[in-house]
Amino acid sequence: RAMAILREFEEKCGTPIAKLRQVADAMTVEMHAGLASEGGSKLKMIISYVDNLPTGDEKGLFYALDLGGTNFRVLRVQLGGKDKRVVKQEFEEVSIPPHLMVGSSDALFDYIAAALAKFVATEGEGLHVSPGRQRELGFTFSFPVRQSSIASGSLIKWTKGFSIEDAVGQDVVGELTKAMERIGLDMRVSALVNDTIGTLAGGRYYDQDVVAAVILGTGTNAAYVERAQSIPKWHGLLPKSGDMVINMEWGNFRSSHLPLTEYDQVLDAESLNPGEQIFEKIISGMYLGDIVRRVLCRMAEEADLFGDTVPPKLKIPFILRTPDMSAMHHDTSPDLRVVGSKLKDILDIPNTSLKTRKVVIELCDIVATRGARLSAAGILGILKKLGRDTMKEGDKQNSVIALDGGLYEHYTEFRTCLESTLKELLGAEVSDNIVIKHSNDGSGIGAALLAASHSQYLEEDS
Ligand code: BG6
Ligand code: GLC
Repeated sequence: RAMAILREFEEKCGTPIAKLRQVADAMTVEMHAGLASEGGSKLKMIISYVDNLPTGDEKGLFYALDLGGTNFRVLRVQLGGKDKRVVKQEFEEVSIPPHLMVGSSDALFDYIAAALAKFVATEGEGLHVSPGRQRELGFTFSFPVRQSSIASGSLIKWTKGFSIEDAVGQDVVGELTKAMERIGLDMRVSALVNDTIGTLAGGRYYDQDVVAAVILGTGTNAAYVERAQSIPKWHGLLPKSGDMVINMEWGNFRSSHLPLTEYDQVLDAESLNPGEQIFEKIISGMYLGDIVRRVLCRMAEEADLFGDTVPPKLKIPFILRTPDMSAMHHDTSPDLRVVGSKLKDILDIPNTSLKTRKVVIELCDIVATRGARLSAAGILGILKKLGRDTMKEGDKQNSVIALDGGLYEHYTEFRTCLESTLKELLGAEVSDNIVIKHSNDGSGIGAALLAASHSQYLEEDS
């Protein structure tokens, strides 16, 4: 019986190449629709107001905040100017107490401002702003924001584990600035960016061939460099560069071609944001472990996978985290020791048989494979939009995609499956020119770089 449940699930999660191509095509179609008009697609295709990516000339001391991934980070970055170097970088990682993720806007921003003030106070001898200058900050805020300029924008909705009602619709820079004023911290937010935009900017600083960035972490999303004249909904001036970076918010993508199961439907219905972020819910780190838990629960209920009672802990949402799923998936010991101890320690299920442990690994593999292959299809969708999915005569141009996020970084099976699927989709010849590059914490540096290129002191310094 347990095997029957497993096989049925596997079949519904299937992602044959033909299906991935349909997903990629649907992604390209939705990209066009989202660029055509506001509300034209599930893909918001948000205009970031970043029309110039880092050149390497950025210099000075800048702060950055990174909110929305697993950890909240405050950074101080000394940019070296012409020699294109981050001279020095200091950071601190703080976790956001869970009650603040579902509390009030003031409480969240007060907490952030306090952490920032504490960090600013450690500004040392070597690393400090020039006297008489206001400190400037790049704010990476990894949620959908309708930008009204490079340094302002209102929160469209929360995603992932956040849900703070009174913040929706507010200008997040305004909220942060008010919180800083409340504690007497004098700082100017000179850039507000999504983590994908930060990662793209950070990636471009080191490699001019970077054309897109993808985050695979708690949530998932992508950004890429579009030609401004290909954005019908953009009514502003055409930027000098001709470019405009777009935050796709691809986590909200959905299509009839996505392989969804009843487990995904229930997970969605019980989530903080039902009906939203469907692509994200079958790909990203916040959810993969919970999908595994849900299938295990069904196997326990209907096929006595763990004996004649259902282990009570299996019913607790999110108790099985993706890092634990990953640890089980990578277990190569002959008796699957890691699987055994995870089941025991996390779910209170002692003494599992080797056969049961194998079922668990297979389940992890099905869930991770579906997510990784769909991410590859999403990337193909972007390459298609950019016209970089085929070889043109004499084309030797590289396209680099900057990737970041805990899922990509730590879940090896996921990463290798994503990379091999993309190769398979592109074919040998094209895939030689497409490079996936890990951009480690690029978004913090990226936000500092964008703060620098939008500094109020730019004229004085040039
Ligand atoms: C980090 C980036 O490395 O990855 C963040 O600096 C981003 O900006 C994060 O939000 C996403 O990954 P995770 O796993 O922390 O959600
Ligand atoms: C969620 C957010 C998005 C972010 C992504 C990765 O999808 O909505 O803004 O980029 O997570 O952190």
